[in-house]
Amino acid sequence: MKVLVVGGGGREHALCWRLARSPQLTRLYCAPGNPGTAGCATNVALAADDLTGLADFAAREAIDLTVVGPEVPLCEGLQAVFAARGLLVFGPSPAGARLEGSKVFAKQIMAQCGLRTAPFAVCERLAEATAYIGAHPGARVVKADGLAAGKGVVVAADAAQACRAARDFLEGEVLGPAGRRIVIEERLRGEEVSVLALCDGERVLTLPSCQDHKAVLDGDEGPNTGGMGAYSPAPVLGPELQRRVEEEILLPVVRGLAAQGTPYRGVLYAGLMIVAGEPYVLEFNCRFGDPETQPLMLRCSADLLPYLYGAARGELPRQPLQWDDRAALCVVLTAAGYPGPYRKGQPITGLEQAEALADVAVFHGGTAHDADGRLVTAGGRVLGVTALGEDVAAAQQRAYAAVRAIAWEGLHYRRDIGHRAVGRR
Ligand SMILES: Nc1ncnc2c1ncn2[C@@H]1O[C@H](COP(=O)(O)OP(=O)(O)OP(=O)(O)O)[C@@H](O)[C@H]1O
Ligand SMILES: [Mg+2]
Repeated sequence: MKVLVVGGGGREHALCWRLARSPQLTRLYCAPGNPGTAGCATNVALAADDLTGLADFAAREAIDLTVVGPEVPLCEGLQAVFAARGLLVFGPSPAGARLEGSKVFAKQIMAQCGLRTAPFAVCERLAEATAYIGAHPGARVVKADGLAAGKGVVVAADAAQACRAARDFLEGEVLGPAGRRIVIEERLRGEEVSVLALCDGERVLTLPSCQDHKAVLDGDEGPNTGGMGAYSPAPVLGPELQRRVEEEILLPVVRGLAAQGTPYRGVLYAGLMIVAGEPYVLEFNCRFGDPETQPLMLRCSADLLPYLYGAARGELPRQPLQWDDRAALCVVLTAAGYPGPYRKGQPITGLEQAEALADVAVFHGGTAHDADGRLVTAGGRVLGVTALGEDVAAAQQRAYAAVRAIAWEGLHYRRDIGHRAVGRR
């Protein structure tokens, strides 16, 4: 089978790394890929949002399955462009991708399907928004409707800050059209966990739970990033809660979308908050998480390809996926300054030593080769150092041992990835 993976970050490197082991695979391409994916796939110089270029390539190379990493091409309609040319995609249709592309749509589906989620209002005018915030003392979370690359959610400390966020989104220039409608919702308090499932339009196959760390500094301080680390499993979600998430959240959404005539095929990612033992939905994403995919791919011990192919065709295999019982943990190494302005082009050393450690994989995010062929930093999130261990604490130790082998000028990482799971023991 010929497979094309779309995207060029750590998530796509982890997907390529796992798919490359499939006995059914004959060729693997990654567009645009990165120096890491070049080790297990053929990189193709096409941007992840060049829908026509990607479809032309897939048609020319007779690609059997295209697996889409990032949300932007899915929300922009990649699946429909491919389907019109008879090309198969693992990833939802544009209608399904609205679960991530529109927070208003997502909340409406949650309400229709009776899911537990924070009470909310949808506003297009600032006066309505300030009135709602004034009348609801708990309503302190303000979310832009559209995709905002992590800048579209403000968890406000008080009403004044919530009103400012509403004004910035509705009337400011920063987000543009993505902020012309907002969701205002009650602030929940609890522990967050992510549950991802493969969906074929009808059935779901729930993957092991994971937890990510968004804040840039230890102790969850500082501004939010695309993700500073992740681990799986997340002990906050035991088997009973996991079963309930599947039955009370994932399946109702998949059935709801099927009933609307828009069956959902691809990854359904539920961002949850566990409040007093009950799972509440914070958000849906329409793709694998980055960096959650890195530990998940390390733990996945089955041939993933038939599952992605089956989901895309509406016929997920009936057998459950096999997972390594051990835990996996990913530490993201970033350029100093990220998520603000940061430098690029710093030579990276120690990668071979890190990769030589047992049960360690280093996934590339923002790396490149410079004119002299040296591996240098080329993005904010540069590498995802991922390790397996008997439990989260052991995976954490091994991952940090590998991290310590790697260096560049201005390297930053959190030293406490997995602290909630380790603290729980
Ligand atoms: N109702 C809520 N109560 C408390 N915190 C919340 C609430 N909604 C969102 N948050 C916090 O804000 C973060 C971002 O919210 P959300 O997941 O909806 O946005 P997003 O920008 O789509 O995130 P992602 O980048 O993970 O897709 C959540 O991970 C959570 O920490
Ligand atoms: Mg999201």
